[in-house]
Amino acid sequence: MEPCRAQSRAGDGEGRRRVLSSHVAIDLGSTRTLVADTSGRLLVDEPTVAAVNLRDGSLIAFGSLALALPGRSAGDVSIMKPVSHGQLQDLRLTDQVAEHLLGRIRKRVGRHPEVLCSVPGLATGVQRRALERSFKRAGATHVDFIEHALAAGIGFKLRIDEPVATMVFDVGGGTTDVAVMALGGVVTEASIPLGGDDLDRAVRDLLLRSYDLVVSPAVAEQVKIMIGTAWPAAETKIEVTGRDASNGLARAVVVSSSEVSSAIEDSLRAMVGAAVSCIVSAPPDLANDLIALGLHLAGGAALLTGYARRLATATGIPVHLAEDPARAAVIGAARCLRDLADAGTRRAVSSTPAESP
Ligand SMILES: Nc1ncnc2c1ncn2[C@@H]1O[C@H](COP(=O)(O)OP(=O)(O)O)[C@@H](O)[C@H]1O
Ligand SMILES: [Mg+2]
Repeated sequence: MEPCRAQSRAGDGEGRRRVLSSHVAIDLGSTRTLVADTSGRLLVDEPTVAAVNLRDGSLIAFGSLALALPGRSAGDVSIMKPVSHGQLQDLRLTDQVAEHLLGRIRKRVGRHPEVLCSVPGLATGVQRRALERSFKRAGATHVDFIEHALAAGIGFKLRIDEPVATMVFDVGGGTTDVAVMALGGVVTEASIPLGGDDLDRAVRDLLLRSYDLVVSPAVAEQVKIMIGTAWPAAETKIEVTGRDASNGLARAVVVSSSEVSSAIEDSLRAMVGAAVSCIVSAPPDLANDLIALGLHLAGGAALLTGYARRLATATGIPVHLAEDPARAAVIGAARCLRDLADAGTRRAVSSTPAESP
């Protein structure tokens, strides 16, 4: 994969404005969907959730509207996650989501935009081709891909083209992407299907196992955000309300931060382990750069209390948290598009693999 290189191009101001205005960066994340134009302005920022009519499979609403849909639990409406652990769940739904997204941005960027999708490294060739097909059917003239870690690195304005090693760790809702990069290429990388959603699931399991309490994914997420920690901290407690698993009645229990921390420990250890294995398999002469430049942390789940400290301690490398972690990848992809347009090139950042599974 070759990252975009910014080059200056003389003249052609009008033409360049037109090219730029028809490009968009799209991050169809497991948790949030973000679309940005080449100036980095967000055109869409929604939860990746769809309300689907079960009778004919049509998309009723997407994003926060789907979550707020009155009567959304009615028999013929299903609330679905179009992406889970970085994998598209249903091709027809992907088509409809792509159509919905391009429909929403059409007025801002024109009818036939060029799209750069930020995808996790684990997205297979089949998945990338499915996304390409859906966005093209929805009107995109061209679809390219950039992997999350590289996109976030560009979002961090790292010197990825230069002969120094830089490292990015992006932990989203369903995937963790890590890459050590140098000279515009990826030296070592890892992409695993684990993210913040798995921490939520661990909290739900804890409440069910220890308290016989059933809670919604949203409540589990709130518990994680409020008292979950990736690094030992002073004990705190909160009251959590849910349904009793045996009789279905509403009930409240008090849960402590240490209980939540031990419940999420296995997933955290696996995520941090991906960073360690990337460093261990990188050539030893890059270690100095990594220690000097640090590890750059992005993705919404990086906001978990103590995450940066945990990662710094496990890797021995100073950690810099992105200013806006959940948006770093889409902002980086948008910057990449802008650099490509500046260079006057339509060269693919990464072509869809023809053979891979
Ligand atoms: N303050 C926070 N503390 C802990 N986790 C958080 C916080 N804010 C967001 N998250 C988690 O970040 C994840 C979403 O990250 P994001 O990068 O938007 O995901 P994706 O790109 O996979 O859609 C969710 O699991 C969410 O619970
Ligand atoms: Mg993300």
